[in-house]
Amino acid sequence: MMMEGKRLESIWYDRELDVVKIIDQNLLPHELRIAELKNLSDACHAITTMQVRGAPLIGITAAYGLYLSLKEDPRQQQLAIKKLLDTRPTAVNLRWALDKMQQSLSGIESELLAEKALETACLLKEEDSVICEAIGESGLPILQALWRQKKGYQDCINILTHCNAGALAAVDWGTALSVIYKTAEAGVPIHVWVDETRPRNQGASLTCWELSQAGIPNTLIVDNAGGHLMQLGQVDVCVVGSDRTTLGGDVCNKIGTYLKALAAAANNIPFYAALPISTIDSSMVTGIGSIPIEERSADEISYVYGVDQEGNRSKVRITEERTRIKNYGFDITPAQLITGIITEKGVFEANEISLRGALD
Ligand code: MRU
Repeated sequence: MMMEGKRLESIWYDRELDVVKIIDQNLLPHELRIAELKNLSDACHAITTMQVRGAPLIGITAAYGLYLSLKEDPRQQQLAIKKLLDTRPTAVNLRWALDKMQQSLSGIESELLAEKALETACLLKEEDSVICEAIGESGLPILQALWRQKKGYQDCINILTHCNAGALAAVDWGTALSVIYKTAEAGVPIHVWVDETRPRNQGASLTCWELSQAGIPNTLIVDNAGGHLMQLGQVDVCVVGSDRTTLGGDVCNKIGTYLKALAAAANNIPFYAALPISTIDSSMVTGIGSIPIEERSADEISYVYGVDQEGNRSKVRITEERTRIKNYGFDITPAQLITGIITEKGVFEANEISLRGALD
């Protein structure tokens, strides 16, 4: 995507320097800074501290992390995989990417392992971009059809999204936002309601930023505003991403997604999840009780981060120090609340029969 006038992806390999480059997402929207990953520890740190985040991007970073580790020591493949898998528990793309890496490294001689790992990681990265673009193309007819219904009554279609499922969450295009980018490109007038997505504020700091970079009209709302807007008829469709989707069609995504799906169902508003097939976990049918839900530091809730009036980075505590806090990162939206699952292979119903078809 175009970011501050430059064509950038969220991650790439710099052959000249032999390092992996990423956009440090913790600094956005105030600063667009490129960071370098030089070894396994840098890659693990980037994932755990959320310099990179979003299911597809976590997977690609892990793939490059394995290369960086094998370059240091080709004997540490299993240890490196374990360390990478331990960085974040919920997004299944991490395991998917490392499985792909392991398959491609099987039978390769020790001195060629790093080279092969780099080749495979670069391939997965290129594929991710193509897949995400295809997700957008699969979703486009849904929004075009919606526009045909609304045209004449409204001057645009209003889409609500949660968290950041955009180019920043993948290599390029994103998942939910890919559908939005393709719809805008096709000339459909759109406006996006962006949930701020407490506590990390991926909506406020990332989604609004990348939509504005692409020239797409967007408005930031607090996480609790969606239901109200739906009652007022100001939301035509919800499109979100997913960190893990079960074979039965349950969608695990950023905390708060479930409440939006409940409100959408109560107001008869279609609710779609857009995701690459690699996000479907074929080892489980039901999400609740099976998908590990990441719990993150209490500091994410007790502090807010931003820039002060002078533009300096600032961290402010908004709770008493003794306040008890639970910080769940994700929740599960049951399949019956999902209108459809938009993938690179087309749109599927959120049920086992349909999703088995997607995996074939
Ligand atoms: O905790 P994050 O920022 O990694 O969570 C990201 C999300 O929940 C996204 O919506 C999800 O990964 C879908 S991504 C394309």
